[in-house]
Amino acid sequence: MEKFIINGGKPLVGEVRISGAKNAAVAIIPASILAGGTCIIDNVPMISDVEVALEILSTMGAVIHRLEKNKIEIDTSGINDSKVPYELARSTRGSSYFLGALLGRFKKASVPLPGGCDIGSRPIDQHIKCFEALGATVNISQGIVDAQADRLIGTQIYFDKVTVGGTINALLACCQADGLTIIENAAKEPHIVDLANFLNSMGADIMGAGTDVIKIKGVHSMHGAEYSVIPDQIEAGTFMVATAATGGNVLLKNVIPKHLEPITVKLRKIGVTVEIEDDVDNMRVIGAKRYHGTDIKTEPHPGFPTDMQPQMTTLLSMCEGTSMVTESIFETRFKYVEELRRMNADITVDSRVAVVKGVDKLMGAPVKACDLRAGAALIIAGLCAEGTTEIEDIHHIERGYEEMEVKLRGLGADIVKRYFPDDKDMRKAL
Ligand code: EPZ
Repeated sequence: MEKFIINGGKPLVGEVRISGAKNAAVAIIPASILAGGTCIIDNVPMISDVEVALEILSTMGAVIHRLEKNKIEIDTSGINDSKVPYELARSTRGSSYFLGALLGRFKKASVPLPGGCDIGSRPIDQHIKCFEALGATVNISQGIVDAQADRLIGTQIYFDKVTVGGTINALLACCQADGLTIIENAAKEPHIVDLANFLNSMGADIMGAGTDVIKIKGVHSMHGAEYSVIPDQIEAGTFMVATAATGGNVLLKNVIPKHLEPITVKLRKIGVTVEIEDDVDNMRVIGAKRYHGTDIKTEPHPGFPTDMQPQMTTLLSMCEGTSMVTESIFETRFKYVEELRRMNADITVDSRVAVVKGVDKLMGAPVKACDLRAGAALIIAGLCAEGTTEIEDIHHIERGYEEMEVKLRGLGADIVKRYFPDDKDMRKAL
């Protein structure tokens, strides 16, 4: 088993380049099915969720070439199957996007129910409501979603709650439907806009992405395109918080400051300096010795992102005063708090609210990552803590952060990834 070993207390200093956005890439890769030709996609992060999406595509007959480390060519003209392998699909949430893409191109799809971070029930009822509104028949049995339609007909879709995945699947399914589709109460995250831009570059006709009303005029065919994925605002936010927490001074490169506004506002409020030069794609974060706490409530974009909640709570655990953190998106996204308490954090959780009492310092300890952003939070805690922190189950972290420990070492952090043979490995070796 691999672990991160961190010796804390060193401020992050230097420059770091932010990778392409995980939640855009895991939507854009299945979307390439709609091209029925060759797409070249750049700035694709090398993370395990992306590798799974590419593996699913290739098992279905797509031809994939890695042109450069973060640049891939995908030819989906030869896709001959609309079934997604079970084990691959259940390892990520993004596998659900193959439903919309396969239905959109072939009018049929057979995709296992998705997996992903264990942060709540995460149903896909809104995705299914959308497919049925377009005229598809959807059945779920033995963990597999089967959808099919003679025709997909443009219609009015109103999401009962804002859903990123539901909005993505709606865009994928209705690009080539007959007529106009209007999606209301749509998600507005940057990766929704990025997907819409990619689909339009393949010949789709989408207007309004980034607002809560998106209009899609169905087109008869789409084609290959070249595209570059936006920078990852959650990776950028994670490095902003890590820099603030360690009292460092870091220039983040390849960012879109506009996407980071909800995070920047909160960091400035507690006393962090964030410098943004006009119309360039970087920003400087300068930490301070102490901060005063503040309250956070996660909301759909442009509110404070739920994917930054664990990282921000970790920073708040070392701020003066008491902070309240309310998680309004997912039911159980505070599991990591138990691990932070092992490190001397003083946090109590009641359902969706965490009361965070600032402590002078965290203490290193052996801890476990329970999901992707929880793992990022524990890394931040380890970077600040006195002593050594060992983080287990780092595969969660590597689903969504490209070379995290390499980037952190480049900023002066004392972090290594080490392999520890566990009982299973020992038995295998004997
Ligand atoms: C996406 O998950 C992201 N994952 C999540 O990022 C992110 O936290 C989330 O959007 C919110 O921004 C990917 O993009 C792969 P939702 P998704 O549908 O699509 C409920 C990370 O750390 N809901 O917007 O699953 C749902 O239970 C991951 O990168 C329904 O009730 O999120 C949740 O309470 C974690 N029915 C709320 O809506 C549905 O049909 C928002 O979920 C769909 C969702």
